[in-house]
Amino acid sequence: MYSSEFLTLINGEVNSLRSLGKYKNEAVLTSAQGPKVNVGGKEVLMFAANNYLGLANNPEIIEAGKKAMDKFGFGMASVRFISGTTVLHQQLEAKLSKFLATEDTILFSSCFTANEAFFAAIIHQTVGSGRQSVIYSDELNHASIIDGLRLVKKELFVKKIYKHNDVAGLTKLLAEDKDRNYYLKIIATDGVFSMEGELAKLPELIELGQEFEALLFVDDSHGLGATGLSGKGSPEQLGVLGQIDVLSGTLGKAFGGSAGGYLSGKKSMIDFLRQKARPYIFSNSLPPMIVAGCIRAIELVEQHPELLEKLRSNTQYFREKSVALGYKIIPGYHPIIPVKIGEAAITQKISQELLKRGVYIVGLWFPVVAEGDARLRVQISAAHSREDLDQALKVLEEVGREFRVIS
Ligand SMILES: Cc1ncc(COP(=O)(O)O)c(C=O)c1O
Repeated sequence: MYSSEFLTLINGEVNSLRSLGKYKNEAVLTSAQGPKVNVGGKEVLMFAANNYLGLANNPEIIEAGKKAMDKFGFGMASVRFISGTTVLHQQLEAKLSKFLATEDTILFSSCFTANEAFFAAIIHQTVGSGRQSVIYSDELNHASIIDGLRLVKKELFVKKIYKHNDVAGLTKLLAEDKDRNYYLKIIATDGVFSMEGELAKLPELIELGQEFEALLFVDDSHGLGATGLSGKGSPEQLGVLGQIDVLSGTLGKAFGGSAGGYLSGKKSMIDFLRQKARPYIFSNSLPPMIVAGCIRAIELVEQHPELLEKLRSNTQYFREKSVALGYKIIPGYHPIIPVKIGEAAITQKISQELLKRGVYIVGLWFPVVAEGDARLRVQISAAHSREDLDQALKVLEEVGREFRVIS
């Protein structure tokens, strides 16, 4: 039974979010994901999906999924090691390893789960050594890394948060720890930071890893299919493909936007994780139709470099034009374009007004970003036409002027 004290507590929280303008409303789509979607019976331009390559509704991916469903059925009704591994699962793991230039890959039901699996599996293995491990984590890392660390027994490790992308600060922490007898040292970072569209300084982090014998873990969920000349993510973009110790990522964004996550790296690490990663051992296998669709997505990315070219040119165009309108954006070249507004309540009103006028751009505020640093997050897709971009920019200009965030 719910106690009235508890109900008062949670209702109070939700009401307070509403009154502060921080309540997250969910727009309901009645169409497939794409550059244009249907929301509440109205067609709007979509600038709030991680559909970077426009593959979420791709007919070839859908066909691959349908064929797999005909052959393998709806789902596996099993975890991988019992009876949930098909040839498709193995093919996708092999394809990802080749694509990412790693030795091996293990699939999870999501990247959130992959990140939750990783830290606990490896650090719990050090029980009995009498030694702690240390994790250096960028302050803006994704919630799944933060939660992954929460699943590690406290006494087994020390967590050190370094300022966002602050290589000097991280170097100092590593140097201070040089003579401490930690079992494992792990540097954990997003490859692309999802609220900023900024890349981690991977070449520097690799050097630090070598100098201080620290394992480098990179979650490249927003990098895969969105950065690097051939979509291999932030390591490719920064010239260090194949040099990250452990890569994690999602199949739920650029590569068709359905579901699935992975950890990829050295074969001995992946073999170990297949035995020890609890969300792999105790959670259902990805449905074959999704696995088949993801395989097709990788093939499409390999066969159609023009998708990435279009994504890059769309991104550059939108970035330049929004700055010309007077908006402050976080500079860069990623298709995540954060448009700084400041106050949460105004940001929420602006995003509602944009939607009313047919442009779906989401607003983000605390606790997703720091208090007072609310922003619109524009996400560009290769599927946007130049007209789509111009229409969105026109509406952004009108609404921005009305709310006096640009003059
Ligand atoms: C950096 C990062 N890591 C992990 C995830 C979670 O991925 P998934 O949706 O596969 O759980 C996300 C998704 O928002 C993300 O942006």
